[in-house]
Amino acid sequence: MDSPVVVIGGSGRLGRLVVNRLLDLGERVHVVGRGTPQEALPDGVGYTAADVRESRSLDEPLAHCSALVYCVSPGTDDTGPDRPETTMYLGVRNALRSAVGAGRRPHVVLVSQIHATHYGHPLNAYGRVLDWRRAGEDEVRESGLSHTVVRPGWLLDDQRAGSRVRLVQGDRGTGQVSRQDAAEACIQAMYCPSAIGVTFELFNESGPAVTDWESSFAALEWDRIPVG
Ligand SMILES: NC(=O)c1ccc[n+]([C@@H]2O[C@H](COP(=O)([O-])OP(=O)(O)OC[C@H]3O[C@@H](n4cnc5c(N)ncnc54)[C@H](OP(=O)(O)O)[C@@H]3O)[C@@H](O)[C@H]2O)c1
Repeated sequence: MDSPVVVIGGSGRLGRLVVNRLLDLGERVHVVGRGTPQEALPDGVGYTAADVRESRSLDEPLAHCSALVYCVSPGTDDTGPDRPETTMYLGVRNALRSAVGAGRRPHVVLVSQIHATHYGHPLNAYGRVLDWRRAGEDEVRESGLSHTVVRPGWLLDDQRAGSRVRLVQGDRGTGQVSRQDAAEACIQAMYCPSAIGVTFELFNESGPAVTDWESSFAALEWDRIPVG
């Protein structure tokens, strides 16, 4: 890509895997997180301490990105700054605004979660996290930007749920997926044209690993035809 890929949450467990794969692919990478990363980031990766809840703090790191991966964890408080509304909705809005501020139109990959449309799910008791996930997704889908919304199942740090990746839509299923495969879905979403404008859930199951991501994305329904 012609300018850095920005990974907001790139110091987290999933985000680091995205960062490492991007480096393997020869991309320049810039990470955004709130404080000093607990574990050092790989050599050559740029870092800005910024908070998605503070809109202006994102302007500079997002000014020249070619693609944006948003994999921020939500807070779970009902009120106050750590409520999910701030990170899953307002933070997404802030990032989108900053990302187009310099006239660029980056591809946006939003990491959401399964059950984002299940308002009655017990998880929603935690600060209405699912409602705000869905609202953040809508901001991305309605942004007019080229985008992909990834809804992973429960994240694992290993492949115990299987090697095969299943992409489905409708938010009716449940399951688990490795962070490695969730990261790979984010990566492929930036390179496969058929991933533009789709929202999907992601699970592991037994079977051979997916190698043809383009075909897997192409089997999905579009959210809408992206404008730009
Ligand atoms: N756990 C699951 O089973 C599951 C299932 C589906 C989806 N997900 C979602 O998948 C994504 C990645 O999960 P993970 O477990 O790998 O996350 P993680 O390790 O907790 O990493 C989250 C990242 O978000 C950053 N962050 C948090 N609040 C921020 C803020 N206000 N501004 C800027 N950066 C902020 C953190 O960096 P700092 O602390 O430095 O700010 C960290 O780098 C998250 O969105 C998660 O909710 C998780």
